[in-house]
Amino acid sequence: MPVDMRARLGQADLPSPVLAAAGCAGAGRELTQFIDIARVGAVISKSIMTEPWAGNPTPRLAETPSGLLNSVGLQGPGIDAFLQRDLPWLLSRGARVVVSIAGQTVREYRALASRLADAVGVSAVEVNLSCPNAEDAGQTFALDTGAAGTVVEAVRGSLRYDIPMFAKLSPDVTDIVAVAGACVASGADGLSLVNVLTGMAIDPGTMRPALAGAYGGLSGPAIRPVAVRCVWQVREAFPDVPIIGTGGVRTGRDALELMLAGATMIGVGTAMIHDPSACSRVMRELEEELAAIGVDRVADIIGQAHGRTPRVPRGLARRT
Ligand code: DHB
Repeated sequence: MPVDMRARLGQADLPSPVLAAAGCAGAGRELTQFIDIARVGAVISKSIMTEPWAGNPTPRLAETPSGLLNSVGLQGPGIDAFLQRDLPWLLSRGARVVVSIAGQTVREYRALASRLADAVGVSAVEVNLSCPNAEDAGQTFALDTGAAGTVVEAVRGSLRYDIPMFAKLSPDVTDIVAVAGACVASGADGLSLVNVLTGMAIDPGTMRPALAGAYGGLSGPAIRPVAVRCVWQVREAFPDVPIIGTGGVRTGRDALELMLAGATMIGVGTAMIHDPSACSRVMRELEEELAAIGVDRVADIIGQAHGRTPRVPRGLARRT
């Protein structure tokens, strides 16, 4: 019996809970050389800003032993080009589309949400809160419960009511549950956990920072245990809030771990950079993992690691 891998995102039925995470595949075009994007759960766009944006000076990428450091600086074509060019193309390929939005002021986030009001075919919006707030000395929105809540409330107020909104949070905080709570109280329908951790590398050869912007965002396997912890904590506090679990997922077993912690869906990001078919492979491997432990429906494993007596599916105890 095949495992039922379907997931639900607002009004959209997804063939898989495995999504292409924001930032590692642009607007999805390049992926089609490798996979059928109609079979991926959804494609989350690289975060879109109100205007075209050139991003940061180079070098913007630095490899570390188990993670990637980047300071791309939200390079992108802007919301108008995305809506005119990328969104119709993604829909013509049969993809479900989650639009990630990024702003430097609350007004910009609101403007982005308003621009999405007439857009047809947007399955959800992901609000990237890991952006510098131009009105608060560049302090990142996601690091402050008040600023995060204000952005979420502004987006909710301007977004069509039938489009679910996920707030993407930073793990660089003392209390991720407090930020999650502020976002949920301000109208977030779900949460994406987690964005990059801030990191830095110095090149001993030049004795200078490896990135032009000095520090950047760390992603990849190095941050996966942090993502598992954040998903776990937020699921404990808000068991009914859907979570897109993102952070260093490379295999089906990684995806299974995050779902057991409480993720309802999984984002695959950095893994796509060296394996552009990673979303399809992770989904296949997750299905194989579930079949091996006798689980019929992927939805049945969400949050199963919680509680004093978790319902251990047939075979799982044997394997651990
Ligand atoms: C960028 C923004 C992010 O939120 C992120 O996680 C990685 C990179 C950027 O600078 O473009």
